[in-house]
Amino acid sequence: MPSPPRVAPISPSDTIINVDTGYGSGYRRAVTIDIRRVHEDELPAYVETLTTSFLERPDVDKVAAEVAPLWRNDRVWAAFEEDGRVRGTFRSWATELTVPGGGRLPAAGVAGVTVMPTHRRRGILRRMVGAEHRAIREHGDAVGLLYASEFPIYGRFGYGPATRVATWTLDALVTGFAGRELVGSVDVVKPDDAAREAIKLVFEAWRLRQPGEIRRRDYRWAYDLGRESAFGERWKGFLALHRDASGAVDGYVRYRTEEKWERRQARAIAHVDELHALTHEAYVALWRFLAELDLVATVKAEGRSPAERLPWLLTNFRAASVSDVGDGLWVRLFDVPRALAARRYDHEAEIVLEVVDDEAPGGRVCVELATGLDGASCRVTERSPDLTLGVASLGAAYLGGIRLRDAVLATGADEHRPRALADADRIFRTLDEPWCSTFF
Ligand SMILES: CC(C)(COP(=O)(O)OP(=O)(O)OC[C@H]1O[C@@H](n2cnc3c(N)ncnc32)[C@H](O)[C@@H]1OP(=O)(O)O)[C@@H](O)C(=O)NCCC(=O)NCCS
Repeated sequence: MPSPPRVAPISPSDTIINVDTGYGSGYRRAVTIDIRRVHEDELPAYVETLTTSFLERPDVDKVAAEVAPLWRNDRVWAAFEEDGRVRGTFRSWATELTVPGGGRLPAAGVAGVTVMPTHRRRGILRRMVGAEHRAIREHGDAVGLLYASEFPIYGRFGYGPATRVATWTLDALVTGFAGRELVGSVDVVKPDDAAREAIKLVFEAWRLRQPGEIRRRDYRWAYDLGRESAFGERWKGFLALHRDASGAVDGYVRYRTEEKWERRQARAIAHVDELHALTHEAYVALWRFLAELDLVATVKAEGRSPAERLPWLLTNFRAASVSDVGDGLWVRLFDVPRALAARRYDHEAEIVLEVVDDEAPGGRVCVELATGLDGASCRVTERSPDLTLGVASLGAAYLGGIRLRDAVLATGADEHRPRALADADRIFRTLDEPWCSTFF
């Protein structure tokens, strides 16, 4: 095996950033910004800023009315200027993250992060992050989660990209499916209340066993199945359920189709919005159902795991190709000992990690991690560390899919004994790829 590339040392000045949050320098005027929670009557102004910053143009009042009951339990922050105008937005909601081994951690899902184009790069985001991270810690969430619109934004706040997503394209015309007889049945159904309850149950069982997956908000299902929304286009797709031999629903796929003809031949594309299966049989049957749709030449699925088993189901492995592999869910560890103790590891090992985190008292937390095949323990220690690394690198490697030795390359690590990084890399890796199918 080639030796890992040299990793630059980490020092406090590399990771602890002192930011002058005073406004005005280099800008036309100084403004005072107040970061606080949003009242319901301020939601239209909040949505105006949110959508302007995301380059969207919905009916703001309708969106505000729609989200008011949905966001009631969320922490909705805004940056207000003296005149009361909203210049920045930030929100988090309570969810739960499945970690390697099937444990679960309370988590904050961060969303709706924006600052008005006229007010950027003055430290408003940094101040909103500070306020919300304090609230997350008070709330007792062990981890923070988000999807990044742009890669460079969140590493500085301690988040690391911990799962990957990819697009799968299946050329249905050049392959069959290998092997066994299909078990059970596939049924295309109306996306009504009964169907919604059935797929919720499948997802709920599935997310408990998939590291990286999260608990969804209940209201999301109605939108996924076509509820009208002021935010944008209504979903108008198809829903197919898989039932096992006893008739129990154990898988589903939501998909849309794009009509296409070439030289009078049908070449439609089936776009998979979501496919979840509780058994291998259901997984095979649903992919096969898609591939064998009449008129369809290509099945395309975005936001899937790059480790999908799909090619191995085919008589022609090359008919399934993966592209656009990129970062998926980002993880920020708020309670390092709790988070590290919650997951399982594939190796017995002991290591002392010093985690550089500018939000921790003293800028770092030192923990002793002991892993066994039955579980792990992790506690704060005074012992001298084997390895010093940044909290964002640890967040990236936390779910076992990103290699720690890669995650430290950008921000650095200090080895205090030989092979400490290689050992930590081996400890955190898992055989199974973590994946989050839930975008928010
Ligand atoms: C991303 C966004 C919220 C940043 O807000 P902001 O108030 O300009 O951020 P801050 O001034 O607090 O920046 C804090 C630091 O992050 C850096 N930063 C912020 N946004 C960045 C970006 N898009 N790319 C690279 N660096 C960025 C700043 O340069 C600053 O660096 P420093 O600590 O070295 O000084 C804002 O640009 C925005 O609304 N973008 C469009 C919407 C969007 O993509 N939101 C993110 C959704 S996930």
